[in-house]
Amino acid sequence: MGRLAGKVAVVFGGARGIGLATVKEFLAEGATVFAADIREPAEEIPGYSVVDATDEEQVGAFVDGVIAEAGRIDVLFNNVGIHLGKSLVDTTLAEFDNIFALNVRAAFLGTRAVLPHMIERKAGSIVTTSSNGGVMGRPGDPVYNATKHALVGLTKSIAVAHAHQGIRANTVNPGAIDTDMLRSTLNSPEEFETKQHQLVASTPAARVGEAWEVAKAVVFLASDESRFINGVVLPIDGAKAAGAMPGNRYSLDFELGVR
Ligand SMILES: NC(=O)c1ccc[n+]([C@@H]2O[C@H](COP(=O)([O-])OP(=O)(O)OC[C@H]3O[C@@H](n4cnc5c(N)ncnc54)[C@H](O)[C@@H]3O)[C@@H](O)[C@H]2O)c1
Repeated sequence: MGRLAGKVAVVFGGARGIGLATVKEFLAEGATVFAADIREPAEEIPGYSVVDATDEEQVGAFVDGVIAEAGRIDVLFNNVGIHLGKSLVDTTLAEFDNIFALNVRAAFLGTRAVLPHMIERKAGSIVTTSSNGGVMGRPGDPVYNATKHALVGLTKSIAVAHAHQGIRANTVNPGAIDTDMLRSTLNSPEEFETKQHQLVASTPAARVGEAWEVAKAVVFLASDESRFINGVVLPIDGAKAAGAMPGNRYSLDFELGVR
């Protein structure tokens, strides 16, 4: 039997990358999945809807629709996010507002829409995609980092507030994961192969991760296997957040790790 057999899962940001990989793992583990994203999915997904996760009405209507069809929501995966690789002084106010309005607002709206149903049933697991940048400072993307730290605060607070009602809230905190988002930080997707050393220079595992490696962790946090794990921040990052490496390891002449 699948580890999510009988569970109803909602995934925001499920069209590609980490979200799509998680939708596939959820389905493989027996969940009924309702995935939503602002774009059409990279592959056909059953139960898929186009939803702008920053739009209060659209999120509300989508969640109401899931409840009407499935009767309950056991798992919520808040995965919507965009990146902004700019220094603080180069970030405009519009860019600041835009990334908070997306990365933080989407998780707020999704959670606020689903939580009352979980409270009513006294059960539910909420998993939110934060980042390495949600647990450590990084020089290249301070405002993105701030949004990802905000998601950690939101998650821990939900855990503390609602644990006694059978609700769990945890984050996954990926390091560099090979997705369209990561590749879009380069001038062209082809640059990926040549720029890997730069991408993982600060990763002890000396490699990027795969979307399915994050999805497996989300399945664990969504499932009853993790039923007493609540309010945690789980790095999936080849030890990047664990500490500093020997100084010479930050030079670019190291051997890439095994993928
Ligand atoms: N790839 C990485 O290296 C990495 C590292 C750390 C954290 N993350 C986080 O993981 C999550 C997934 O990222 P990914 O790498 O799979 O990138 P991605 O761009 O493939 O996935 C993000 C998804 O969010 C969707 N989205 C954007 N705006 C939306 C909106 N308004 N409404 C609904 N959906 C919307 C996108 O269409 C996309 O499908 C993000 O939150 C990202 O910040 C990624």
